[in-house]
Amino acid sequence: MLYRFIVRPILFALPAETAHRLTIALLRVFSPLVRPLRSLLLPRDPALEVHALGLTFPTPVGLAAGLDKDAEAFETFGALGFGFVEVGTITAEAQPGNPKPRIFRLPADRALINRTGFNNRGAQAASNRIASARRRRTILGINIGKTKVVPNEHAADDYSRSAQLLAPLADYIVVNVSSPNTPGLRQLQNVTELRALLVRVRDTLDAARPTPRVPLLVKIAPDLADEDIDAIADLALELGLDGIIATNTTIDRGDLSTPRATVEAYGDGGLSGAPLKARALEVLRRLRARVGSRVTLVAVGGIESVDDAWARICAGASLVQIYTALIYEGPLLPRRIALGLAARARAAGLSSVAAAVGSDVNTART
Ligand code: FNR
Repeated sequence: MLYRFIVRPILFALPAETAHRLTIALLRVFSPLVRPLRSLLLPRDPALEVHALGLTFPTPVGLAAGLDKDAEAFETFGALGFGFVEVGTITAEAQPGNPKPRIFRLPADRALINRTGFNNRGAQAASNRIASARRRRTILGINIGKTKVVPNEHAADDYSRSAQLLAPLADYIVVNVSSPNTPGLRQLQNVTELRALLVRVRDTLDAARPTPRVPLLVKIAPDLADEDIDAIADLALELGLDGIIATNTTIDRGDLSTPRATVEAYGDGGLSGAPLKARALEVLRRLRARVGSRVTLVAVGGIESVDDAWARICAGASLVQIYTALIYEGPLLPRRIALGLAARARAAGLSSVAAAVGSDVNTART
C-alpha cells in the first residue's frame, strides 16, 4: 500500500534510471541497518530452505542480475528478504553502457524495456567492493559478461579475467551469454562456442579457487529455438555444469497492451516482466524435461506473485529470481512471495518448498 500509493508514484515520476540510482543510493544509506532489517524481513522458516549448488539458501526467492550491477547494495537487498542476490553483469573492463535513456517503463504491461548494455565499473572494482563488505551474510551470485569492445574470438579470455578476479568472492558464478544489448553476445550460445567458453571459465575458477569449488551456471535467452535449448541442456550435462538460469529478457514485442508506436519509439532492448512469463515457463519446462534433477534450474522472467513462483518450482526450478516485479510491487515482494510459498507447500501436504521442485513434470508439456 505504502509503496503502491506513495513511493511508486514518486519513483515513476522520475526517469527510470534516475529512480534506479536513487534507490541504490538509499539502500546504501540504509546499510548500517542491515542487521535489524534482516531479522525483520528475511523469513526464517525451515520449510523455505533450499539446498542447491552446495549452498543452503534461506529462501528460494532471489534478486535477478542487472539491478545491483556494481555490487553496491547486495547485503541490503539480502536484508530486504531476498534469499540470495545476483550482482552484475560485470565485465573485465569498466564500460559506460549505451547512451541514456536506456530503461523504459511499460506500466500497462507491467514490463520494462532496457538496453543498458552492461554499464559497470569492471571486475577489479567489483572485486574490491565485495572484498570490503564487512561481514557477508547474503548468498552472492556474480554474473559475468563480455566487455563490449572485445570481439567474440577473444571472449573466453575476457570472461576468464573476470572469473579469476571474482572466483574467491562468489558463492556462484554465472556466465551471461544472453543479453540482447551487447552486439553478437548471444551468438556465444551456439554450443560449439559455448562449450569452449564454459570449459575455459571452469578451468579458471578451479585454478583461482580449488576449494570450495565455485558453482558455475549459464544464463540463457528466451528467444532461442527449442532445439537450441535442448542442445544447451545436453551441453550442461556433458560438462557437469551446476545450473542454468532461464531466462534473460526477450527481443520479442508480441502481444503488448502498450501502443505499438510507443514501444517502437523506445527502440531496441530486452523486454522483461509479465509479457515474458509464458515463454520463460516454457523454456524452464523444456530444460527440466531434458536434465531432470541433475542440473539446478533457476527460473526468472515475469515472476510477480506466489502463483508464478510456485508454478516455476513445480515445473522444476529449485530457485527463482525477480527484477521487474520488484519495480512495480515494491521491496516487500520477495518476503511476500517466500511466505506465500511456504504456505503453499504446507497446504499441499509437503514438508518444504524444495519437496515441490519438479512435482508437475509428469503433466507438463515438453
Ligand atoms: C536486466 N537483466 C539482466 N540480466 C543479466 O544477466 N545481466 C544484466 O546486466 C541485466 N541487466 C538488466 C537490466 C534491466 C534494467 C532489466 C529490467 C533486466 C535481466 C534480468 O536479470 C532478468 O533475467 C529479466 O529481467 C527477466 O526477469 P523479470 O524482470 O521479468 O523478473
